Amino acid sequence: MEIRCPRAFLLPSTIVFFVFFVPQILVQFTHASEEEFTRPPAGNIILSKHERSEMEPQQVHVSLAGSDHMRVTWVTEDHRAHSTVEYGTAPGQYTTRIRGEHTSYTFFSYTSGKIHHVKIGPLEPETTYYYRCGASGPEFSFKTPPSTFPIEFAVVGDLGQTDWTKSTLKHVESKDYDVFLLPGDLSYADSQQPLWDSFGRLVEPIASRRPWMVTEGNHEIEIVPIISPHGFKAYKARWLMPYEESGSESNLYYSFDVAGGSIHIIMLGSYTEFDSDSDQYKWLQQDLAKIDRRTTPWVFVLLHAPWYNTNTAHQGEGEEMRKAMEELLYGARVDIVFAGHVHAYERFTRIYDNEADSCGPVYVTIGDGGNREGLAMS
Ligand SMILES: [Fe+2]
Repeated sequence: MEIRCPRAFLLPSTIVFFVFFVPQILVQFTHASEEEFTRPPAGNIILSKHERSEMEPQQVHVSLAGSDHMRVTWVTEDHRAHSTVEYGTAPGQYTTRIRGEHTSYTFFSYTSGKIHHVKIGPLEPETTYYYRCGASGPEFSFKTPPSTFPIEFAVVGDLGQTDWTKSTLKHVESKDYDVFLLPGDLSYADSQQPLWDSFGRLVEPIASRRPWMVTEGNHEIEIVPIISPHGFKAYKARWLMPYEESGSESNLYYSFDVAGGSIHIIMLGSYTEFDSDSDQYKWLQQDLAKIDRRTTPWVFVLLHAPWYNTNTAHQGEGEEMRKAMEELLYGARVDIVFAGHVHAYERFTRIYDNEADSCGPVYVTIGDGGNREGLAMS
């Protein structure tokens, strides 16, 4: 099927991106702020304490898990806690109860709590569900995304857990968005495992209310010989994404649909193999080939290390992946690519192979969510 370019001007859809960065200037996709500002210093790490009982859920977050389903994830310190979710459309009235799975991991002397993953559904679109985890602790609620336009996304990269992170999350919370997108670098635990727990507690008030869809950054790698030779041990255990639902064999790359299939979102992995003979490349080829642009007018991609970047920070780090995969995205007429890693905001015109091209994606770097490393300066 021939796809006209540029496409965005031909489509009647309404999509809003709330893109959050430090200092927190709220912008819509086409209106970046040009105001001068003095870059603030990096924030200090804040620890979020566990204040519930050992049987009660903590670090609750939800994610999309295939058509009409959500996955509820939480941690309990007590490994006797059940992996069940009760839910319904009225507070305190749970009409359905579903049992799921659980995992845990060790890392040096650290042993994680029991990490529960329960997939619930089928669910109605744009509906608020009230739920309880393990028949214990407080009631939570989330809203499912709409099945049609308009739809709103909150996009934040390189989040961390500082006072700036808190400020960013406060701004996110102030918007009635539908889906949260995070192109890598979540907790900045960097092998200090209790910081993963602290991060989970910090984001719970927001991540338990809207689906959080994430991909991995370099701070998720945590490779340690013998203990975690392949890395991503904590990330894979804690942030299970719908990779099986999208035909991927790895939690490090996957895809999902929103707005009733009108938008296809692909989460790629910058830190797993991406060459043309790699599993990720072959999966991406197959995933793109399945898209029918008559029913799916929008395709977005998120990855961590940007393919286009004029900042001196992390210059050229995404180049190998760009050379390997850019042609695939261009051929499929991907509309937008969001990246993190560089702690600054930057947006490019439509581009392909380093030349302005009306058929190429728009590239946006949004890696300044508030982490302890501070902002990229030039
Ligand atoms: Fe990064």
